[in-house]
Amino acid sequence: MKRLKHKWIFCLIFGPALFAAMLSPGCGGKDQPSASSEETAGTVQTPWVIGMSQCNLGEPWRVQMNQDIRLEAENHPRIKMIFKDAQNDSMKQRSQVEEYVSAGVDLIIVSPKEAAPLTPPIAAAYEKGIPVIVLDRRVIGDKYTCFIGADNKKIGKAAGEWIVEKLAGKGRIVELKGLMTSTPGQDRHSGFREGIKGSDLEIIFEADMKWLEPDARKEMESALARFKDIDLVYAHNDPGAHGAWLAAKAVGRENDMLFVGIDGLPHEGRIYVRQGILSACFEYPTGGKEAVLTALEILAGRGVPKEITIRSRIFTKANIDEGGQWLEEKQEEKRP
Ligand code: FRU
Repeated sequence: MKRLKHKWIFCLIFGPALFAAMLSPGCGGKDQPSASSEETAGTVQTPWVIGMSQCNLGEPWRVQMNQDIRLEAENHPRIKMIFKDAQNDSMKQRSQVEEYVSAGVDLIIVSPKEAAPLTPPIAAAYEKGIPVIVLDRRVIGDKYTCFIGADNKKIGKAAGEWIVEKLAGKGRIVELKGLMTSTPGQDRHSGFREGIKGSDLEIIFEADMKWLEPDARKEMESALARFKDIDLVYAHNDPGAHGAWLAAKAVGRENDMLFVGIDGLPHEGRIYVRQGILSACFEYPTGGKEAVLTALEILAGRGVPKEITIRSRIFTKANIDEGGQWLEEKQEEKRP
């Protein structure tokens, strides 16, 4: 609020043009830090305030994202992080974004639960001149400052191609999808379908397990009851793959099929690979560190790309000790 007062004073001193600009989206305009915030904030005494809205903290991957943000932010005393947990409720997350706007934070980072409900509050914040970094799951349109995430289509496609190769082009597949109102679920699905195109893989069962291990387990129980022969389970995240494995194990069928997941956390998916629970998992980096570094660029008034894509690796038992294999390297290998 103190900063808002400075904004008025600055605009009045520097003439009507700036004053008019101030009546539209903030004195500094979209994607720009306000002139006053550069003057009065961004110091150790008055750090820039960054509000982070995390869609939930019930999953290890999201706890890791917040941890990555916190660790990087600790290296930069010119910023102060505030965290809110939306507890997997899109309406709650909408309010959190609005609360950050009314509180006058300098920048917002959002990892949205779902695209459609989070689009309007993010667009409103952006239109007001508050920079917004959208992390991991996308919103609709382009009313935000920067999107950071790995390429889910590419990961899904790589998973499909790996599975085709592993099963020699033929097999009965269960696909356990992530929340289909969130963009990683949509992209991991369409990318996968592209990756298996032209093969004789058959999707015998598909269900939305909403990214949740208990839901994946329940869906897998139905798949197991309906189908005697299942060759492989492709789950859009590692908790989903693990839930499916637990369901198969409960009926003594876990060794009849393979399991593939996505996330590749060191203390989750990568352990499952080492234990032989997952045949492969694909890394989905949290982007937490990149979000903080990008926020600093924006707050310092430097331009950032509209989209920052983070690389991903595949982990299998064969490559896990060497740190996995980057998807790019894999594609390069395929070139003649
Ligand atoms: C956690 C999570 C991850 C997944 C990501 C996709 O909420 O489900 O497992 O990779 O979200 O946004």
